[in-house]
Amino acid sequence: MSLTHQAHADRDGSGRPLVRIALLGCGTVGSGVARLLIDPAAAVAVRSGIDFWLEAIAVRSVAKPRSAEIPSELFTEDAARLVEDPQIHVVIECIGGTGVAATLVERALANGKHVVTANKDLLATRGPELRLLASRSGVTIQYEAAVGGAIPIVRTIADSLAGEHILEVGGVLNGTTNFILGEMGAGASYESALEQAQRLGYAEADPTNDVEGIDTAHKLAILAQLAFRRALVTPNVPRTGITKLGREDLSLAKRLDMTVKLVACARLGGSLVTPAYVRRSHPFAQGTGAQNCIRVMGQSSGSLTFAGTGAGGAPTASSVIGDVVAVLRHIETGIVVGAVADHTLTNAWGVERTIPLRRIVRLVSLRDARPAREALRSAGVAAEQCDGVPAILTTQALDASNDDLRALLRAHDLAAESILPLWEDLPAEATVAPAQATAEALSVR
Ligand SMILES: NC(=O)c1ccc[n+]([C@@H]2O[C@H](COP(=O)([O-])OP(=O)(O)OC[C@H]3O[C@@H](n4cnc5c(N)ncnc54)[C@H](OP(=O)(O)O)[C@@H]3O)[C@@H](O)[C@H]2O)c1
Repeated sequence: MSLTHQAHADRDGSGRPLVRIALLGCGTVGSGVARLLIDPAAAVAVRSGIDFWLEAIAVRSVAKPRSAEIPSELFTEDAARLVEDPQIHVVIECIGGTGVAATLVERALANGKHVVTANKDLLATRGPELRLLASRSGVTIQYEAAVGGAIPIVRTIADSLAGEHILEVGGVLNGTTNFILGEMGAGASYESALEQAQRLGYAEADPTNDVEGIDTAHKLAILAQLAFRRALVTPNVPRTGITKLGREDLSLAKRLDMTVKLVACARLGGSLVTPAYVRRSHPFAQGTGAQNCIRVMGQSSGSLTFAGTGAGGAPTASSVIGDVVAVLRHIETGIVVGAVADHTLTNAWGVERTIPLRRIVRLVSLRDARPAREALRSAGVAAEQCDGVPAILTTQALDASNDDLRALLRAHDLAAESILPLWEDLPAEATVAPAQATAEALSVR
């Protein structure tokens, strides 16, 4: 049986395909996927019009107690056997990480099996290469659940916006930091907000991936790969986490009628993950907790905003099942949907170039505002005073780093308590005037 033939599945007596599925991982997401696959009321087969069979579920330990709804005979500890098994046509990977999951996905694709995965770490670091491997094996790798949980954004960019010239993609992509910043906005310190997030299950015991912005950078890299057809990977995204924020940053935001969010943004030529002041009326400021907000700015489409639950077992499993249905339809019809390999994908991104944003410098006292503004001005950095609060907004400091600004102020015996960017949209005309839009999109340092 050729690899491609294998991916197209066996047929029953009436010529209908019978697809055999293996699920790898049965934790938060995988158990939700398993339940939906074995529940007749979920009607995956009806929606796809194809018979399928959940052959096995690989886990680390079969001894671990599992949901009674999932037949125990499905469990195995031998994931490697499943990805080599010629009887398996589709592999759903819900293990996570870039270790064993990467090897299993690679083997499955090389063996001509379609892969569905929620693994953002893997797609963000090795997405272009895996898509190419899938395309060479005549199969697809689907990963709608890797970004934004239940929000249908991957296929929207890959398919619905395939004809759009995208200028910018990004948003607020991480529920844990959203929760922590919400608590800090209500007066908590970073440490107690993190503790609360861990108690409620929003943050993991080791929260590094979330609070250092790595999870957000993964999601941004995946969105940017699709939007700009560039091989942007996580290590090339300039990234700042939320660990250095104090509750004073949040209280200053409140006085400015703003909030602080961990914002992600990619434009052609640059990208950025950073905590930023966001005006309260802006779509990025609206979500709390697990709510994500993703925005795509297209030359012709203008601004498109997608909001919804960005994490959690059930929403993510729903997204995985959507991908499974897409794969089943593909097997039935041969029509590919979703993010297929783009052979024009290039590395020419502009490694580690960040997107310049104006910055708000938080000062010790209101008295410092005027001297600080003058000190910056004398060094060629224009700044304006924020009304009635100890802060100034830089207007022409795009080439100066935060350290440069701090040093300038220190030389005048002034202290910058914190320096954070102010999130501002591309100007409206960017979406209607091509020449100007391109210049804006490329405006990076
Ligand atoms: N949780 C979310 O809200 C969410 C949202 C979006 C995307 N995702 C992504 O979804 C994926 C899964 O996340 P999760 O939260 O469901 O993880 P999880 O709860 O930790 O589950 C991981 C599963 O993988 C199994 N596993 C680990 N090592 C294995 C091995 N060597 N062989 C076979 N199975 C192995 C574990 O087995 P045991 O059960 O025996 O330990 C467990 O069932 C990740 O890529 C994550 O980034 C998660």
